[in-house]
Amino acid sequence: MEALEARFEDLVQQLIAHERAVAHDLFPDQILSALFDRLAELRIQDGLRPAAIGAAGRAEVHTEIRSDFIRWWSDQPEHPAEKAYLEIVQGLASYLNRTCYAGIRRFECMYATYPTGASYARHVDDFQHKNARKFSLVTYLNRAWTHDAGGELVTYGASGPEYILPTFGKTVIFSSPDMEHEVLVARRERWSITGWMR
Ligand code: OGA
Ligand code: MN
Repeated sequence: MEALEARFEDLVQQLIAHERAVAHDLFPDQILSALFDRLAELRIQDGLRPAAIGAAGRAEVHTEIRSDFIRWWSDQPEHPAEKAYLEIVQGLASYLNRTCYAGIRRFECMYATYPTGASYARHVDDFQHKNARKFSLVTYLNRAWTHDAGGELVTYGASGPEYILPTFGKTVIFSSPDMEHEVLVARRERWSITGWMR
């Protein structure tokens, strides 16, 4: 647990200094590989749906704005790797609450796949604080991702745009109401777990 706390503290320091945090070793490889397999299974079973935008109740699919496919996780997942992932996120949420008074009460997340050619235009995840999202967390599941595959997450912090390649095991965290960001066109299918601390 101590090793994890040191990682959490590093993330907090990055958030303070750069308005975003990037971690390479937050989740054990074993968990991520199992989540990769789970997503592969869902994809074969046709278990993902086109992502919508807009407030709950009047959400619509607009592929010119975002063209990924998603599947929400259950609140109480049975899958051991999903449980293990959520335990670590819970640990981070508690740490943020304890050290930064973040007031996080719950976490929601989904699998997301961007087919070749897909993107997500510049946006914030909690426009005008409408859905109480505090922090966005994205964990990438793309092995051997290279620069020419594109699909970078671009964050638009005060010090200018930053381009983040969605490589396997990387997790990015940023403020949901404050950080503008976009996903550039992926030239290869791009997989992630995307979640929000609320
Ligand atoms: C989102 C999003 C970023 C990414 O789903 O809201 O911005 O890198 N995802 O997948
Ligand atoms: Mn987003």
